[in-house]
Order: sequence, then C-alpha cells, then structure tokens
Amino acid sequence: MSESAVATLKLPPRVSGEKPGAGHMEEFGVNFARFLMRCNAECGELAEFNMGGQQTVLMSGPQAQEAFLKTLDLKLSRAAAYQATVPVFGRGVIFDAPPDKMKTQLKIQVDALRYQNMVHYSTIISKEVEDWIAGWGDEGVLDFLDEFLRLTLNTATHCLLGADFRYKLTDEFRELYHALEKGLQAIAFVDPYLQQPIFAARDKARERLQEIIGGIIAERRATSGVEYGDALETFMAGTYADGSYLDDNEITGLVIATMFAGHHTSSGTATWTLTELARQKPYADEVLQELQQLFGDGAPITFESLREIPRLERFIEEVLRLHPPLILLMRRVIEDIDYNGTLIAAGKTVAISTFGSHRNTDYFPDPERFDAHRPKPDTLFAYIPFGGGPHKCAGNAFAMMQLKAIFAALLPRYEFELVDPDETYQDDLSAMVLTPSGPCRLRYRKRR
Ligand code: HEM
Repeated sequence: MSESAVATLKLPPRVSGEKPGAGHMEEFGVNFARFLMRCNAECGELAEFNMGGQQTVLMSGPQAQEAFLKTLDLKLSRAAAYQATVPVFGRGVIFDAPPDKMKTQLKIQVDALRYQNMVHYSTIISKEVEDWIAGWGDEGVLDFLDEFLRLTLNTATHCLLGADFRYKLTDEFRELYHALEKGLQAIAFVDPYLQQPIFAARDKARERLQEIIGGIIAERRATSGVEYGDALETFMAGTYADGSYLDDNEITGLVIATMFAGHHTSSGTATWTLTELARQKPYADEVLQELQQLFGDGAPITFESLREIPRLERFIEEVLRLHPPLILLMRRVIEDIDYNGTLIAAGKTVAISTFGSHRNTDYFPDPERFDAHRPKPDTLFAYIPFGGGPHKCAGNAFAMMQLKAIFAALLPRYEFELVDPDETYQDDLSAMVLTPSGPCRLRYRKRR
C-alpha cells in the first residue's frame, strides 16, 4: 500500500486501561475471554490492545472474522503468531518450516485423518471407552476432568503411535508431555526463549520424546510388511515434492502437534458435554432416546453407525458454542491491511475470539442460556468453534466421531448428576485451552 493511501486511513480504536510497559497483559492473563469481550463492547468491530509491547487488534463480528480466517498466510501469518509452538513442535516443523514444507507437513498430518484411518480409529476409541468403564460398577463419583484427560490421552497415543506404545504408556511419557504443555503458557506467546525453568524443562522433554519416538520409527523401519493403521505409519510414509521422507525430528513434531491440537480440545469438550447432559435434563432425555433407538438392541458402535446421531450432534454443537476450547485465534500482519477504511499495520497481531463471537446477541439471543434447539445462524463465520477458511480444524470429524463414540457408549448405560453446587461448574478462563475448572465431579449410576 502506498504512503498516500495509508495516510487516508483511520487507526483502530484503543482499549482503555493500558498500563505502562505491560500494557493489558495483567488483565489479559487473569481472564482473557472476558477481557476480549470487554475490548469488543468498548471499541466495536476493531479493538487494539497492548500485549507487553505487541500491539494486537481484536476483530469481532462475522464479517471481520471471515476476513481474518480467509486471508492467506502470506498476508496474515499463523507461523509468526504461533512462534511459541516452535520449541514444542520442534525446529523445522510446521510453523518453523519454510512455506512449501509446512504445506506438505500439514497435508501429511491431514492424510492421517483419511477415511480408512478414521474407521480404524473409531474401533480403537470404542475399545478404549469399554476398557475405561469396565471397572466402574453400579455407582460412583469421579472427577471427569481428570478422567477425560486420561481417556483422550490414551486414545490419542493409541491412534497416533499404535497399540504397542499405548499399552506400554509410561509415567515418563506422561511427564514429558506435561512438561511440553507447561511450555505453552501465555508467557511463551510473548517470548518462548526466556531463561525460565519451564522452558528448560520443555526443551529437555522435547529432546527425550524424539529419542523415544525415534526408537519406534527405527523398530518399524527394521520390520517391513506390518500394517499399523495409525498416524505414525502415515507420517513415516509421507514424502516431500522431491521424494524425500520426513526425518525423525519432523515426524516427532507432527506427533506432538497432532496431540496438542486434539487432546485438551477433545477432553475439555467431553467434560463439558457430560456436565451439560447432567444439567440439561429435557435435552439429555431426547439424546438418550435417540441413542436407545440407534444402539438399544445391541447394535455395535462403528464408524458408520456413529455418522448420523443428529440430536447428540446438536447437543455437542451447543456445548461448543458456550465452551469453545480454542478461544483466541491469532495471526501476525505481514503486509498493511486496509479493513473498511482502517489501517491494520504490518507487524501488529490480529486476533479473533470464538468465545465472544458465540455470545454475540445478534446471532445468539440470550447467549448464556444453553439451548440445544437453538437454530444455527444463517450468517457464516458467526459460529466458529473449529475456525474456518483454509485452515479450518483438520480434526473436526475426528473430534466429533470421538465425542459421539464416548457418549453413545456411556449414556444408555449410566445416568449422571452433578455432585457439587451447579454454579461451581465454571469455565477455567485462565488457560489457553478452555476446560471446566477442576475438579468436575459427577455421580454415575447404572440405568435399570
Ligand atoms: C473439539 C475439538 C476441537 C476443536 C474445538 C478444535 C478447534 C480448532 C480450531 C479453532 C482450529 C483453527 C486454528 C486457527 O485458525 O488458528 C483448529 C485447527 C486444527 N486442528 Fe483442531 N480442534 C479440535 C480437535 C482437533 C483434533 C482431535 C485434531 C487432530 C486429530 C485437530 C487438528 C487440527 C489441526 C491439524 C489444525 C490446523 C489445520 C491447518 O492449519 O490447516 N483438532 N482446530
């Protein structure tokens, strides 16, 4: 854009309450979903705030969200905005790879979610769910936040790295994974290379994880002819344009990136779905009826039978409206943008909030009310739990299949009720992936 064109443009309005140096970091850190809603309420469609020196423009409303989601990486870069993931996924992996390599790596990641693999994954997930509930007995109380974290870690490792690895799942692996998770706190989005113990632990864990996954890769390369059906097999078979295979570092990075994309997002949604089923009796009864009709006569839970469960799907969609796991999506502005007469200058960050979008009263009247019969808005990009445009969630179908497999198995067998006062089941709005604040205790009772 020429200098004279830039000079005619307005600047985005700035959000009040900025502190010298840190800007809005403190308020952001306490409860960033609410902070983003305040930005939108105060400034409207565009709202600029300061994240410790990084000027960030929140874009709100379907039109602005569409512009954000559809603009290509060359202008709005995810790689530059998500640099915090580089030490976790690894050097040269996804957001640290040159654009053509990143494209191939993402394609290989998506290949691991194709039809044949999905059929295999649905069998794995059903078995994991059966094993999980096998020891429950007739009645009991569990912290389902914890339970679903464990269940989805088991399904993720099983689908990604195969049965052998899953059944040898060690405390060491859990600790390594946990160290990587800790390395992705809000501070990592400011500078992921600060001298901090959590970052040192993250780097050691990444190194050790590559040794472990490298060991499985070497074993598999030494034994040909075995079909695994898991994601690792797809990652090992994938090639770049010149025919070369991904190396151990890149394969490890794809495994980690897929775990990070799918684990907390799925476990948080499962926990909220169960909690809302316990809270929303009339809707839960409708879902139960549907499941009894579909699976009541002992019909097996398979990839095909999981495809069409409309009431359960609608219920989960309403859960994802109120509790979207990824609240904040970000990009770095590479070239100046003229957004309807306002300049969003190169170097700034732009962001959208799924949490705020799903509470926009123009599209979701009485937004805090759970309503599984709520019509979906006709306007595109108003409901965006999985993002949209060219980088819409690649695991959308996997996530829905897994959630349906879990609840198709659980609900016809058990009823659930909240153990603690209703108002204590709240979103934890301090973490980067939204989940209920723990513990999330529910009582289960076998249906007669
Ligand atoms: C309820 C569960 C999930 C939700 C709400 C969710 C949400 C999202 C969102 C909002 C994005 C877009 C991020 C952006 O534009 O910056 C995304 C991207 C992505 N998700 Fe998910 N996700 C879920 C589960 C999964 C699962 C289970 C997997 C893998 C098995 C997965 C894999 C991915 C991948 C690979 C991308 C990047 C796609 C690309 O860059 O082209 N997600 N997800």
